[in-house]
Amino acid sequence: MRLKDKVAIVTGGASGIGESTIKEMVKEGAKVVIADLNEEAGSLLANKLCKDGKEAIYMKVDVTDEEMVQRMVASTIDQFGRIDILFNNAGIGSTQPTDEVSMEDWRNMLSVNLDGVFLAAKHVIKYMRKNGGGSIVNNASILGHVGQGATLAYTASKGAVVNLTKTLALEYVSENIRVNAVSPGYIDTPLISGATDEKRNLLISLHPLGRLGKPDEVAKAVVFLASDDASFITGTSLAVDGGYLAR
Ligand SMILES: NC(=O)c1ccc[n+]([C@@H]2O[C@H](COP(=O)([O-])OP(=O)(O)OC[C@H]3O[C@@H](n4cnc5c(N)ncnc54)[C@H](O)[C@@H]3O)[C@@H](O)[C@H]2O)c1
Repeated sequence: MRLKDKVAIVTGGASGIGESTIKEMVKEGAKVVIADLNEEAGSLLANKLCKDGKEAIYMKVDVTDEEMVQRMVASTIDQFGRIDILFNNAGIGSTQPTDEVSMEDWRNMLSVNLDGVFLAAKHVIKYMRKNGGGSIVNNASILGHVGQGATLAYTASKGAVVNLTKTLALEYVSENIRVNAVSPGYIDTPLISGATDEKRNLLISLHPLGRLGKPDEVAKAVVFLASDDASFITGTSLAVDGGYLAR
C-alpha cells in the first residue's frame, strides 16, 4: 500500500496507460480522480472501482481548458480535501508528413500534449504546497528524446514535456514537490490500435525486448515515481521502452 490515503488526479485516466495507472494506484491505497474527456469510459471505470470498494470519482475535463482544469482541482479538494499526486497523462498522437500538417492540427497537438501539462501542474501546485509536498509525473515519450519522421508536432510536444519536467522540478524542489516524467516506448493502447500489421511489426522490431509494452508496465513505473520509494528522484525521465532508447 505505497499510496495509502494519498489523493491522485490522473488526466486521460479513462483509457490505456491512464486507466492502468488508476487501477494500480487504487491497489496501492490511493483515492483517485479520473479526469478525462470521455464521459462514458470514465464513469464506467469509476463505478466499477467504487463497487469494488475503492475511492474513485470521474470528472469530465478537457485539459486544454483552464477553467475546466481549475474546476477539476477545486472539486478534488471539495471531495477529498487534498492533492498529493498528479499524473499528467492525457495526450493525443498523429502521423502526418510535416508539409501536410495544418496550423489547426499543430496547435491542437501542442494544446493537449503541452498546454494540458502546464495547466494541471499550475493549478495543483498551491495545494501540494499546503500539504508540504507532492509528486507530479508527466507522461512524455521516447519521442521526446529522439526524432522520427512524420510526427513533428508530437515529438515537439513530448520534447517540451521532458524539459519542462526539469524546470518544474528545480522550481519547486524547496517545497518538497518532486516532478518526474515517464518516457514509454510503443505501448499497446487505443492510441496505436489503428496501426496495420505491417506497421505494428515494424514498431515491435524497434524495441530490443522484441515486443510492444503493456499499459500496466508504464503504470507501475508511474506509481513508483509517485510514491515515497522515489523520494530522492526528481527532474528525471524514466524510459519504459523495452530498450528503445538504449540503441
Ligand atoms: N501508446 C503509446 O505507444 C504511447 C507511447 C508513449 C507515450 N504515450 C503517451 O501516453 C499518454 C496516454 O496515451 P494512451 O496510449 O494511453 O492513449 P489513449 O488514447 O488510450 O488514452 C488517452 C486518454 O486521454 C484522453 N484525452 C485526450 N484528449 C484529452 C483532453 N483534451 N482532455 C482530457 N482527456 C483527454 C482520451 O479521452 C483518452 O482517455 C499520452 O500522453 C501519450 O502521448 C503513449
